[in-house]
Amino acid sequence: STNENLTVNFINRNGETLTATVKEGESLLEVVIRHNLNIDGFGACEGTLACSTCHLIFDQKHFDQLSPISDEEMDMLDLAFGLTDRSRLGCQVCMTKAIDGLTVRVPRDVADARGEVVGQQS
Ligand code: FES
Repeated sequence: STNENLTVNFINRNGETLTATVKEGESLLEVVIRHNLNIDGFGACEGTLACSTCHLIFDQKHFDQLSPISDEEMDMLDLAFGLTDRSRLGCQVCMTKAIDGLTVRVPRDVADARGEVVGQQS
């Protein structure tokens, strides 16, 4: 089914909350692209685990419900600016009913693995 019956809220780099409807199984990167959400520099490698610009910070409750992290995601996440113990890469996190209605924060600054700094604000 193509029902979009789940929701996710993104707090973008400007501190604005963006709410999107989501299908079960969709990755958080796919949600940002499909809804054309205003998040500077997000998803530079298009989900190929080559950037870390899709870094998102979760609250503990929802973080605990996410699928386990792969070694590949962990390696790339290590390169993210502002890494927290509730950080994941948005291209690797898929929506499930267990995390319906969650709020994720986009860190203010990101660096992608190619050395560019994007989204930095003065
Ligand atoms: Fe590049 Fe997720 S979009 S690692």
